[in-house]
Amino acid sequence: MEIIINDDHQVLAKIVVDSIEAMVRQKPDSVLGVATGSTPIPIYEELTRRVEAGLDLSQIRIFGLDEYVSLDENNAQSYAYFIRQHIIEPCKINPANVRLLSGVAEDLKAEAADFEAAIKAAGGVDLQILGVGHNGHIAFNEPTSSLASRTRRVSLTEKTIEANSRFYNSVDEVPRHAISQGIGTILEARHLVMLAYGEEKGYAVKEMIEGPVSAMMPASALQLHPHVSVLIDEGAAKTLQKADFYKFEWSSKETQTLD
Ligand code: GLP
Repeated sequence: MEIIINDDHQVLAKIVVDSIEAMVRQKPDSVLGVATGSTPIPIYEELTRRVEAGLDLSQIRIFGLDEYVSLDENNAQSYAYFIRQHIIEPCKINPANVRLLSGVAEDLKAEAADFEAAIKAAGGVDLQILGVGHNGHIAFNEPTSSLASRTRRVSLTEKTIEANSRFYNSVDEVPRHAISQGIGTILEARHLVMLAYGEEKGYAVKEMIEGPVSAMMPASALQLHPHVSVLIDEGAAKTLQKADFYKFEWSSKETQTLD
């Protein structure tokens, strides 16, 4: 696990986008897994700037991580809406190359199976962007999700419903269920890029990096993956035991690029 600590979210976004750009230049039809939430927004803004400066993303393929059950793509709270607004349109991605999970599919089991098959048919995800919930969830895999779980319908915890209610008029409007890539699905991506900002993510970050691997802390499953980059700010890094060591490792690298 490579850990980068920097308080400048723009600098971190540039580091991630450098990695995406290098990947796309080498493989124009790279498969990019995208996350929603406020944390990755600077990455999508930086990616948009690169596209405006000439980077061609017309061949890349995109997969989403999760979606609320019952919200369709025209609902402004849906993750499909977010992805269209922040990534597909500004980065000029071909909509035919985008596969997101549908929260309104009649048969969610069939939708999940079809989604998994689509990832496989694409040759797997090359780089997966990830955020983390306060309780350590990744995508919508809440604590006690199997570390081997696959894409499926899931229930949201009170903590997640409350945290995500900031985007709704009232907490009662927040859907109670979602369809989400499983932890086992996520772990199959070739490179995982996790971002977490602010002290309120400190607990999840500490447990993810330095805690035991446990279904109670879904993000700790990243310890099982051979190629993970974690980009955090000082707030999120505050409770880490070995922050100085991670800083030393990063600063002593020949180039400030992700492994
Ligand atoms: C939601 C999403 C996660 C995301 C998390 C954190 O619950 N399902 O994929 O990582 O929120 O979001 P934020 O970056 O806004 O803190």
